[in-house]
Amino acid sequence: MDTVSHLLPSRLLGSANSGYGPVAIAELQQLFPDLTTQFLEPQEVFQFQTQTPLSEVYQVLHQQEPIFLRHVQPIEQEVAIQRTETDCAIAPDLLSQETRWQPGEKVAIQVRRVKGVEFAYTAYGMKAAIDEFLVQRFGLVPVVRQADWVISLYLTIDRLYLGLSQPAHNLSDWSGGIIRFQKELGMVSRAKFKLLEAETRFQLDLHQFHQALDVGAAPGGWTSLLLERGLAVTAIDPANLHPALQGHPHLTHLAQKAEHVTLPLAAYDLLVCDMNWSPYQTAHTIRRLLPALRAESIVILTVKLLHKKPLPTVKEVLAILASELQLLHAKQLFHNRDEVTLILRKP
Ligand SMILES: C[S@@+](CC[C@H](N)C(=O)[O-])C[C@H]1O[C@@H](n2cnc3c(N)ncnc32)[C@H](O)[C@@H]1O
Repeated sequence: MDTVSHLLPSRLLGSANSGYGPVAIAELQQLFPDLTTQFLEPQEVFQFQTQTPLSEVYQVLHQQEPIFLRHVQPIEQEVAIQRTETDCAIAPDLLSQETRWQPGEKVAIQVRRVKGVEFAYTAYGMKAAIDEFLVQRFGLVPVVRQADWVISLYLTIDRLYLGLSQPAHNLSDWSGGIIRFQKELGMVSRAKFKLLEAETRFQLDLHQFHQALDVGAAPGGWTSLLLERGLAVTAIDPANLHPALQGHPHLTHLAQKAEHVTLPLAAYDLLVCDMNWSPYQTAHTIRRLLPALRAESIVILTVKLLHKKPLPTVKEVLAILASELQLLHAKQLFHNRDEVTLILRKP
């Protein structure tokens, strides 16, 4: 039995930000040299296959998480669909003999559909039908977050791909790694979503910091979040901050270029940087500012990928910072466009 299961290839679905699918595949090929792939949504969603057993695939992805792979889900079943209401009965049928869960366990149903194709039902309608079945048949508890199990469904023009996994195996417990935040009234800038996502994704508790430097801060979305979390912020940017922030009692604005500022030594415990500048100049500038940070400080930095090759650009930036900072995470987040978020620590 075991021998047979080892001969079956592991099949998964990978998702990356628009245009970055090929980069995610290149990273996966480094980890699994026998990888075969096929795009289901151009440059973005793809299925991949390897002879490495699934449990080992999860382990490798956990230990050496690819930067550009936003989300994975196993493909355990693939069936034809009509895009009519009858599709909603398919998953209950496929799951009816499932034995891996126990009554009372929490399950999240995540339904994603390929873009630009019409279906006679909504993703929510399909999820509701599966939830109802799982409650009645197995006594499971449908949840959105903190599930014991995730059932992932991906629907294309004519196929349904389904897999069961534990949330940690999917790299992100958000469906497809797509994490959305409510747009707030009077929001200073949408860039705030990037820092909010980093906070959620890496379980950073921003409240634990006291004195932050925000490099390339204008108009001030990141600064506004740090102020909300109770930090005092020194914002560095020659551009103006949003009028809503001006005069805030815990905000100091240095209206200068980051490469020209002079800062007190060991005065800050958090540095965030979202400058739209060359990644190498940015890295060198961050290095120059590091004496202003106390030991154990955290650095959150977006690396702009510009027209350069994504992986070599990130590697080069990390090489510039390597002697001074320890890398904790490197990830292209859902809210990152042509950029990658790095989380580093000053030893
Ligand atoms: C993407 S915006 C930052 C958005 C900001 N994180 C927010 O949440 O509103 C990039 C900023 O970097 C600033 N910038 C670019 N080069 C800079 C430099 N050399 N020194 C300081 N700021 C710089 C720009 O003026 C711009 O305001």
